Amino acid sequence: MVSKASAPGKLILFGEHAVVYGVPSIVCAIGKRIFATVEPAKKSSLEFDSISISSPLDGELELLKFFKRGVGLIGKEAKIRIDSQIPIGAGLGSSAAMACSFLKAASAEFGLNLGTAQIAEYALEMEKIVHGTPSGVDPAVSANGGFIEFQKGVITPLKPTNLPLIIGYTGKERSTKQTVSHVAELHREKPEMTGKIFSQIHEIVRKAKAEIQQASPDLGKIGKLMTRNHELLQKLEVSSAELDKLVGAALEAGAHGAKLTGAGGGGCMVALGGPEVSEAIKNSGGIVIESGISKEGVRDERLS
Ligand code: PMV
Repeated sequence: MVSKASAPGKLILFGEHAVVYGVPSIVCAIGKRIFATVEPAKKSSLEFDSISISSPLDGELELLKFFKRGVGLIGKEAKIRIDSQIPIGAGLGSSAAMACSFLKAASAEFGLNLGTAQIAEYALEMEKIVHGTPSGVDPAVSANGGFIEFQKGVITPLKPTNLPLIIGYTGKERSTKQTVSHVAELHREKPEMTGKIFSQIHEIVRKAKAEIQQASPDLGKIGKLMTRNHELLQKLEVSSAELDKLVGAALEAGAHGAKLTGAGGGGCMVALGGPEVSEAIKNSGGIVIESGISKEGVRDERLS
């Protein structure tokens, strides 16, 4: 038999990096997904469409080690195929979506009966191979979908809100492990400074959550909090010239707010605004990714 499943990517609206240190974060699943097909095999292998990897799982590549951990967790040898609608290494949660879709397909194929919480837990174990010390926010939102607050493994669903979100991709791949270890280094060297920044981010998340929960959230207020969060991420030295350029262009074009999203160092930014903001991002060299919020998390797919 062959089984197929998919899982969504995500956008961190508030709290990335600080979430690794226990601060809550606000995240949503997006409409772009990763699809995994799994079939039993004598020896596990991975086919990865968008970057043309076709390999047994015993190479040195991080991606191969990542899936090797996955087949270790399910205790079955499998032929895995991944197809992605999400740019890889862009801060949109591709590795968590890969892990969750693989685990869901494997669960169907091998009758493992993995529930959503178990999928998020195993996906977190797989993420440790590529990310070092992940907070768990990416697998939590990819597995559950929707709009959530995440803090130290605890998920609080938030009211689904139709925010006019625009994702701008710098086109530059980056490594979560690198920026997360940069913040860890900064935290070791200047704990007072980073501690203060984490508290300020915590306060931003608290205010943003309260506003998002309103019957008609004030976009101006949410936007200002996003821009302030970006400034604090700049202080943590995880932004980049490309990200700052897209954030600046979005704000100049009248966005309510804008910030980098995810680990930073490249990857994506997110702005709150209309078509003129999308235009400004494109004119500044960004690639606009059209995608709304996805209510659905990991799910089984029919084989076509
Ligand atoms: O890997 P990304 O870009 O999706 O970002 C992960 C979010 C971080 O807060 C930077 C790291 C983490 O594990 O929470």
